Amino acid sequence: MAQTHFGFESVDDSEKARKVRGVFDSVASSYDVMNDLLSAGLHRVWKAYTVGVAAPRPGDRVLDIAGGTGDLARAFAPLVGPKGTVVLTDINEAMLRVGRDRLLDEGAVLPTAACDAEHLPFRSGSFDIVTVAFGLRNMTHKDAALTEMCRVLRPGGRLLVLEFSKVAEPLRKAYDWYSFKVMPLIGKFVAKDADSYRYLAESIRMHPDQQALKALMKDAGFGHVDVHNLNAGVVALHVGVKC
Ligand SMILES: C[S@@+](CC[C@H](N)C(=O)[O-])C[C@H]1O[C@@H](n2cnc3c(N)ncnc32)[C@H](O)[C@@H]1O
Repeated sequence: MAQTHFGFESVDDSEKARKVRGVFDSVASSYDVMNDLLSAGLHRVWKAYTVGVAAPRPGDRVLDIAGGTGDLARAFAPLVGPKGTVVLTDINEAMLRVGRDRLLDEGAVLPTAACDAEHLPFRSGSFDIVTVAFGLRNMTHKDAALTEMCRVLRPGGRLLVLEFSKVAEPLRKAYDWYSFKVMPLIGKFVAKDADSYRYLAESIRMHPDQQALKALMKDAGFGHVDVHNLNAGVVALHVGVKC
């Protein structure tokens, strides 16, 4: 059996998806509050930046993968208008349920689908824009997921990957202290789950850095990839064009 990593732990390929499901089943109900707390609201700025770069036009077809509680899908819906489509997907039904309920509370009815990014149930070339925010890190076979994302895009379509990345050297010590000491503590008191937030810190360290992710995207079929570092590389937005 092939091995992969779950945070700093080495696990069988087949075990990772189950463990990731456990994390998001556990944090789904407190996910939005924790996001605001841990990032001091910055995740909203990173997502707004992503939506600005994506700049969907009325009538566009947008697929949000690993969309969780639906922040990106919610922002895209008014931009594509009634002639466009925004599909919210995630492998985890608990996260998707929170997202769908939030959207319904705001009067937005979007198509949602529970699916694995490594096997997308959509025809080739069916989207203008695909997004994945803070989701790729959790996937077992990132190469397979990126290849699927490329497949479902039309030629000229764009993939936007928003993800934690490698922070600039001068900030590294403080960032490590915050990630490994403070985040699990906040997780323990607010979400009653320190382990999931320890996994968050570890999974960020194991994720490919800016250049490695750019190379993975090129291997998956994206002819051109731009990298935007945000907050000194705490987060990076990769934009790949299917040429
Ligand atoms: C940190 S949350 C991000 C949610 C949302 N995109 C956001 O930015 O707030 C990561 C999400 O990735 C989803 N996920 C993990 N592995 C996945 C996979 N193989 N396919 C689709 N979604 C996956 C999880 O279920 C979880 O909802």
